[in-house]
Amino acid sequence: AFEDETIIVVLGASGDLAKKKTFPALFNLFKLNLLPKQTHIIGYARTKMDQPTFHEKISGHLKGLDTDEGKQAKEGFLKICKYISGQYDEDESFQKLNKEMEETASGKGDKPPSRLFYMALPPNVFTVVATGLKKNCYNDKGQNRIVIEKPFGKDLESSREMIGALKGLWKEEETFRIDHYLGKEMVKNLLIMRFGNPLIDAGLNNKLVDNVQITFKEPFGTEGRGGYFDEFGIIRDIQQNHLSQVLSLLAMDRPKSFSAEDIRDQKVKVLKAVPAIKEEDVLIGQYTASGDKPGYKDDDTVPKDSNCPTYAALTLWVNNDRWKNVPFILKGGKALDEAKVEIRVQFKDTEGGIFQDIPRNELVIRIQPNEAVYLKMNAKKPGLEMNTLPADLDLTYKERFSEVRIPEAYEALILDALNGDHSNFVRDDELDVSWAIFTPILHAIDAGKIKNEPYPYGSRGPPSVHKFVERYGYKRSNQSYEWPTTNVQ
Ligand code: BG6
Repeated sequence: AFEDETIIVVLGASGDLAKKKTFPALFNLFKLNLLPKQTHIIGYARTKMDQPTFHEKISGHLKGLDTDEGKQAKEGFLKICKYISGQYDEDESFQKLNKEMEETASGKGDKPPSRLFYMALPPNVFTVVATGLKKNCYNDKGQNRIVIEKPFGKDLESSREMIGALKGLWKEEETFRIDHYLGKEMVKNLLIMRFGNPLIDAGLNNKLVDNVQITFKEPFGTEGRGGYFDEFGIIRDIQQNHLSQVLSLLAMDRPKSFSAEDIRDQKVKVLKAVPAIKEEDVLIGQYTASGDKPGYKDDDTVPKDSNCPTYAALTLWVNNDRWKNVPFILKGGKALDEAKVEIRVQFKDTEGGIFQDIPRNELVIRIQPNEAVYLKMNAKKPGLEMNTLPADLDLTYKERFSEVRIPEAYEALILDALNGDHSNFVRDDELDVSWAIFTPILHAIDAGKIKNEPYPYGSRGPPSVHKFVERYGYKRSNQSYEWPTTNVQ
């Protein structure tokens, strides 16, 4: 695919996602010489603007422009980027786009240029744009691909509707549904860590694991996008997609191969073993004002009686031989005390009672910031006495791979889409099983049957979250992690 002439059309080119993620990712790929040799990028949106304005707009978020090399790369990049405006629901506009694509292509290759349509668009225009593109901009003789971004519906029914509407138009192998967590380095690393290390994978089951937490924390609220957020809430924003993707990669059985379909078959299989979440396994919260920080409902675009959760802790159970009775707690929240996404696998207590109060082993995979994998383990405290102390096997990426730049999720994913590799994209049936898990509690919350516990902006979440995780067996070590000791009995 990389030798082919390629036209990338970014729809919604004047929007936030395109500016902050899509164009910076395309720029980095361009800089690294990873785009196909002859690539043309066309931005498309409703806003009317001339080329210089567009170039200025997309330059705003490009990084690494302070060196001569960076500046040069920017010049080169902008040369391949142009903009045209058009409507999302008009054949005429798409025909104009099609003409633009035809004129842009050099036509020198022996094949017609591949077309990649990247929809950085709000969900209300997904279907109409996908329809317009198929009708007016699809090149029967060449390769066509469409990239779409969540939200893929709001519940099982609407997701099925959306998948159904797009399916008639775009084949599954032409469709790339982005969950950008699948492009993150540490999420991609899960397959290697587990299946490349028998020692680690052998420990991941209900004989050894007591509980698992997958945690997403953001230190800012929904300022500026409260109105949008209120329709969805944290569970649709984070757990149903990002965290359940992480869960499926952590819990799935070994795939036959690393082909996209073998991997995704296993992910679907493990999600099928997860029953719909029960109300008793749910804790939700909504942030309130604190200091100079506004509460969720202080946003004018949010209804005053909103029951929309900005925090949720949900316990999922994987009912198969490997994981039966191990709680997987998916926690996610906005306006919290820190930015962190991590997986914490807590192992069972040491058997036999020869140690008193010795901490549990924990395998922690920190997805961001500061990527790391560490295993908390007990060691003999160095010295003449037989004391223990908690220590760790620590693989912190910054230290171990200090020279390596970790790519942005979007770079990895756009490259995969150009390459036709579906491994890190969401398959239609994956979406279906995952919505089935979340839909009943989402409906219960929408109907006001589950109430939010307030938490102050900048705190650790609803105060009862500590009790919640303890209920599922999580034990915070009594000893501070630094340098405590335990006497061996
Ligand atoms: C998006 C959510 O999918 O992920 C946002 O819609 C959230 O609400 C974002 O802020 C987090 O992504 P990242 O890559 O910053 O962890």
